[in-house]
Amino acid sequence: TYVVTENCIKCKYMDCVEVCPVDCFYMGEATLVINPDECIDCGVCEPECPAEAIKPDTEPGLEGWVAFNSKYAALWPNVTEKGDPPPDAADWDGRSGKLEAVFG
Ligand code: SF4
Ligand code: F3S
Repeated sequence: TYVVTENCIKCKYMDCVEVCPVDCFYMGEATLVINPDECIDCGVCEPECPAEAIKPDTEPGLEGWVAFNSKYAALWPNVTEKGDPPPDAADWDGRSGKLEAVFG
């Protein structure tokens, strides 16, 4: 599966949702996630993310993000159309510590 990781938080560019063939993105206030049970591993979304936040779970160290994506995909609504990113998205792009700052 592919997962959305930290740099999506507060950036939410949403280019990813437009290209997913199985519509498996889910949206919270601050970030999006991929439902790992629905993702067919096509990889199409990865290069579309301007924040480079989408990664294959075969990359080392992403276990926590797989769990995060799985948890919130069950709680948040499905999203299939690109919306406007937050006005301050560029300010947050590339910052560290976003997970703790936003999700405690
Ligand atoms: Fe959708 Fe493919 Fe990205 Fe999985 S890898 S979330 S199926 S676009
Ligand atoms: Fe987030 Fe990148 Fe999609 S910033 S909303 S994963 S395009």
